[in-house]
Amino acid sequence: MTFDGPDKDAEVVLRLSGVEAGYGRIRALNGIDLEVRRGQIVTLLGANGAGKTTTLKTISGLVRLTAGKVSFEGQDLAQMRASDIARLGVAHVPEGRRILRGLTVRENLELGAFTVRDAALRRSRMQEVFRLFPILDRRQHQDGSLLSGGEQQMLAMGRALMQGPKVLLLDEPSMGLAPKLVLDTMRIIKRLNQEGATILLVEQNARLALRLAHYGYVLEGGTIRMQGPAETLRADTSIVQAYLGD
Ligand SMILES: Nc1ncnc2c1ncn2[C@@H]1O[C@H](COP(=O)(O)OP(=O)(O)OP(=O)(O)O)[C@@H](O)[C@H]1O
Ligand SMILES: [Mg+2]
Repeated sequence: MTFDGPDKDAEVVLRLSGVEAGYGRIRALNGIDLEVRRGQIVTLLGANGAGKTTTLKTISGLVRLTAGKVSFEGQDLAQMRASDIARLGVAHVPEGRRILRGLTVRENLELGAFTVRDAALRRSRMQEVFRLFPILDRRQHQDGSLLSGGEQQMLAMGRALMQGPKVLLLDEPSMGLAPKLVLDTMRIIKRLNQEGATILLVEQNARLALRLAHYGYVLEGGTIRMQGPAETLRADTSIVQAYLGD
């Protein structure tokens, strides 16, 4: 699945420098430095509790940083509300998908487009999502929470795409899926990237994520322990695995 990456000198769209964040007295991130360049898939690996989800939440404004800086296309996100960060083009597909019960597939997708005023644009985005995920088209009038786990993952990604994002933050999209669906999900991520999406992918399945990504970071205890081009990390999987605790 290796493919030619984007220009290594492509512009940095998302940059974290010295980011510290936590929950009350619990410090979850101890000074994270991370870069995502336009057109790249960057993967953030780490064991349970390493701080992967917190990193994504800090970027999308769901967790406040206590030190350091997050910038997106040169703008400082630190004091912005989550809804404003979404409007800038940062879409977060949360861990566990968060599909709303009582809303149809279509309504869930429309919810993703809350930042999009233009109705024609919303319609064309939905057609685009249906092209990527035909099952969502067929199930569009069904309650979203009744979809299978894999279908809910597609809906969660579709909902994020309705935003027309510049950067997608994906939190363990393969979690809980059967092996075939895991591969399907990875294929979709690759395809989105080939169509131009910039992606920060959190994964516990390091082997898989490193096959897809251009660059990777390994997080442990809220600190980046290792980083490098994905092919370099692939050659070092034993070291990577040591940090993943398996
Ligand atoms: N809402 C919260 N309140 C208090 N502590 C939290 C909260 N969420 C996470 N933590 C703590 O912050 C640390 C980092 O958690 P985080 O969810 O970022 O890890 P993760 O790498 O995403 O793990 P996993 O692979 O299990 O999803 C952990 O020690 C966790 O217990
Ligand atoms: Mg997590």
